[in-house]
Amino acid sequence: MTVSRRDFTRLFAAGGSAALFADPAWARQAPAVPRLTAGGPAAGEAFWASVRAQFVMPADLGVLNAANLCPASRPVLEALTRETRSVDEDPSPQNRARLSPEKEKTRAAVAAFLRVTPEEIVLARNTSEANNLVSNGVDLKPGDEVIVHHDNHPSNLKAWQEKAKRFGFTVIEVPQRNPHPGDDYYVEAFTKAISARTKLLSFTGMTSTVGDVLPAKALCRLARERGVLSLMDGAQSVGLFDLDLADIQPDFFTGSAHKWPCSARECGVLYINTRAQDRIWPSIYSAYPGAVGISRTFEGFGQRDEATMIAFREALAFQTTVGRAAIEARARALTTQLVEGLARLPEVKIWTSPQASLRAAVVSFLPGSLDPTRLAARLYEKDRIAVAGRTGGDRDGLRASPHFYNTPAEVDRLVAGVARALKTGV
Ligand SMILES: Cc1ncc(COP(=O)(O)O)c(C=O)c1O
Repeated sequence: MTVSRRDFTRLFAAGGSAALFADPAWARQAPAVPRLTAGGPAAGEAFWASVRAQFVMPADLGVLNAANLCPASRPVLEALTRETRSVDEDPSPQNRARLSPEKEKTRAAVAAFLRVTPEEIVLARNTSEANNLVSNGVDLKPGDEVIVHHDNHPSNLKAWQEKAKRFGFTVIEVPQRNPHPGDDYYVEAFTKAISARTKLLSFTGMTSTVGDVLPAKALCRLARERGVLSLMDGAQSVGLFDLDLADIQPDFFTGSAHKWPCSARECGVLYINTRAQDRIWPSIYSAYPGAVGISRTFEGFGQRDEATMIAFREALAFQTTVGRAAIEARARALTTQLVEGLARLPEVKIWTSPQASLRAAVVSFLPGSLDPTRLAARLYEKDRIAVAGRTGGDRDGLRASPHFYNTPAEVDRLVAGVARALKTGV
């Protein structure tokens, strides 16, 4: 993939919105963006350095926070800027009419990325919205049961608890165990929890708390065999794993463009398996639905920001160019490097599984008796490493989530920064 010199490069280097209208002469002076190194992932660190150069984060800043928010790449920023500007330069019905087919192209790209059909894709705002479209849309009444893994994001745990109060159904929680107790625990726990009253089971592909990977395919199969609907929260899966939903076969799957896919904010996906489409009601009735399949009835969400949808398509194309299997392998390798580095610090308690197959790209750990918030601030200031602080009483500490734009050197810097803080305090 080649990325040409554009004025958006200048815009984001300058970091100011006024630069949007910059004199093109400025753009002509902007440094050229390097191409991806020929040879692809086989070229090793040279290739990954060229991938990193596609992001506008300064070279000295290591952000290991993909589980929360990823940066958009230059091709994505270019598409977002170009399309936003086009609508504002020419907000005529004629120019906007061009955007409906563009939205459908994004739907097709998302479907291909997830290995399903465009007729099963709803373009939502983010995972929170998509999860709630499911918990609002499935018919549930007193006497019905929904089984939810406890280690779910509030949009897929609190949302069920609150809606249970309103509709009268019951939420049964499968407890989380730490460290990851193995796939069999989850299959057995969900199997035991299923009763004749169960209507749906819900889990997260990779937990945002400590990065436990759940046996998605086995849980969806269990649900199918027992006549129960399945919801897989894929906020921490899409853009990280080389996913195949045709193989996993959830009834519902949700995700956000701004996490691991590295796209802009305010775009997400709700996948609704063809076989479940008559089991869910739309929550919103307005204008401008999609053109195919479930989107014709489910996606009449009113006016949208097509620029962010077009950017999403660009992000998926970028990941495909880099190599999806390579992205997953890179994130996993950096994770293993981090786990091994932290394991050499005796004061550190790692919450994430020591078993590589049960984790992927989130590492949560308690840094001895150090205050996590102060340590995170110190790492950011002194080491130019950004990680998330986790407080609140559930496996507290720091959470680092590396992705394909991170480097082994950044992981080393994080481990060294924690080691130094353990000796000197924060
Ligand atoms: C597992 C999981 N589900 C849902 C969400 C919500 O994502 P968003 O804020 O993009 O809606 C998150 C956010 O971190 C998450 O980790």
